[in-house]
Amino acid sequence: MASLYDGEMAKVYDLMYQTFVDYDEEYHFYNTLIVKNNCKNVLEIGSGTGNLAKRFYENNFDYLGLDFSQDMINIAKERNPNVTFIQSDMRNFSLTKKKDSIIITGRTTSYLITNEDVNGTFASVYRNLSENGIFCFDFIDANRFIPYTIENKLIVHHAEYDGIKYYREGNWEIATLENFMLDWTANYYTLTNDIKTLIGSDLSTVRVFTLNEIQLFLYLNNFEIIETIDRKTYAYDTYVIVAKKKS
Ligand SMILES: C[S@@+](CC[C@H](N)C(=O)[O-])C[C@H]1O[C@@H](n2cnc3c(N)ncnc32)[C@H](O)[C@@H]1O
Repeated sequence: MASLYDGEMAKVYDLMYQTFVDYDEEYHFYNTLIVKNNCKNVLEIGSGTGNLAKRFYENNFDYLGLDFSQDMINIAKERNPNVTFIQSDMRNFSLTKKKDSIIITGRTTSYLITNEDVNGTFASVYRNLSENGIFCFDFIDANRFIPYTIENKLIVHHAEYDGIKYYREGNWEIATLENFMLDWTANYYTLTNDIKTLIGSDLSTVRVFTLNEIQLFLYLNNFEIIETIDRKTYAYDTYVIVAKKKS
């Protein structure tokens, strides 16, 4: 589990990602898929600091958020006092009511390090989806990402929010090719008059996937893929999968 989502770092995440991610576009993207498949409600896994929650709520859509980090949920609750978020692990969770759609957003699938993690998550999603329910998630494409990390040793991102400049320096090391896992090390700074002040660090191990691997995991968990979308996000080439629960 990454340290980016705990304590003070959760606040840094929230501030910086407001610049990295166009949450209006993100909401529009997922909402279009949900509405197109006639779903009346949604569970968002990896709901983070509640940016999509805000937009679903403002549009009167029946939304529930789920995240592992209580610190991320606390920020999400501040942003959305009327929305329900549950603290749970995507690898094994149970809802009281099944959902028409379950989405895993913002490359949260990168934290599914082992095959057991992936199967546990897909099986939990299956159990908590209503009949013909829709499962939609993104993942980082290993075929494009691994060469990128080899060619770009230092990765720098700038962000500005509420007049404060942020700066992130990170690098990827291939941890083991057993599962296409990588260690991410990043330092976060504020920038004032070109002076960098360290505000925190993030160390995490993430996994990237090939499309074939994901197809097989879905097959093994009784899902039928209905759409595969090639989607570039702020720093990553991803695929988004829309799959239907088979009976
Ligand atoms: C990259 S953030 C994405 C947050 C949000 N979707 C966004 O786009 O801003 C990943 C989120 O996944 C959550 N997460 C990581 N592992 C998890 C797990 N096993 N179960 C549930 N949530 C998890 C983290 O706490 C974090 O909020």
